Amino acid sequence: MRMLAFDLPIVLHDISVFARNVAILDRVQLDLMPGAPTVVIGPNGAGKTTLLRVAMGLVAPAGGQVTWGGRSGVPPARRAIVFQRPVMLRRSAAANIEYALSSAGVARREWPARVEELLSIVGLSGLGARPARRLSGGEQQRLALARALARDPEVLFLDEPTASLDPAATKAIEDVIRAVAARNIKVVMSTHDLGEARRLAGEIVLMHRGRVLESTPVAQFFESPKSQEARRFIAGDLLV
Ligand SMILES: Nc1ncnc2c1ncn2[C@@H]1O[C@H](COP(=O)(O)OP(=O)(O)OP(=O)(O)O)[C@@H](O)[C@H]1O
Ligand SMILES: [Mg+2]
Repeated sequence: MRMLAFDLPIVLHDISVFARNVAILDRVQLDLMPGAPTVVIGPNGAGKTTLLRVAMGLVAPAGGQVTWGGRSGVPPARRAIVFQRPVMLRRSAAANIEYALSSAGVARREWPARVEELLSIVGLSGLGARPARRLSGGEQQRLALARALARDPEVLFLDEPTASLDPAATKAIEDVIRAVAARNIKVVMSTHDLGEARRLAGEIVLMHRGRVLESTPVAQFFESPKSQEARRFIAGDLLV
């Protein structure tokens, strides 16, 4: 049994972030609730990565407030993030996970069992001894997921976890994401792949130019999008 939700809901209230006087998040209002994955979509530069970093607590907004479970300034002990290009330690796959377990304060005697469990969850059983940097791109993504799960997070942020992967590697990652969500871990992820958004999301968040244009249950988003931009995005038009 997992502990009671602690960091959820994550509420972004009127969030603005600026870079060189340009708003890269523009008065964003968003509630991240427990349940099926929230998938953030939108064109390059829309602010997806910035949104994930703010919700993780890595970027302090210039305006507005973020609360985790109703509190502000909550350290990210129960949240984990996988960046788009994860960097592996120059060690074995198992040692990469051990490092994450160590940082999470897990007792050393528990490491062997946890490493096996985590490798198995991400479908890398048997590859623990392999140097992490010699794993394929898709395998490294799965190892990055295992490292994030080593923290036993309540919320897992994934920034374009399948970018540049082939269909088989993408399916492997999507299967892990489904398994993670089934364990009651809240997944908040970005993607450029509308098919993936449809397959995984409970809720879709559409961003454009630093704004959240829609946050809608997935079926509603694809069947009756509210905004003109969403209709164009679904139709495959370029949103610029
Ligand atoms: N530290 C920074 N300094 C200056 N500009 C930044 C900084 N971080 C982000 N930006 C700009 O803010 C905008 C939003 O960036 P962000 O990375 O959040 O977009 P994104 O939706 O994740 O894009 P992509 O799909 O390309 O990953 C971009 O125009 C980016 O260049
Ligand atoms: Mg990004």
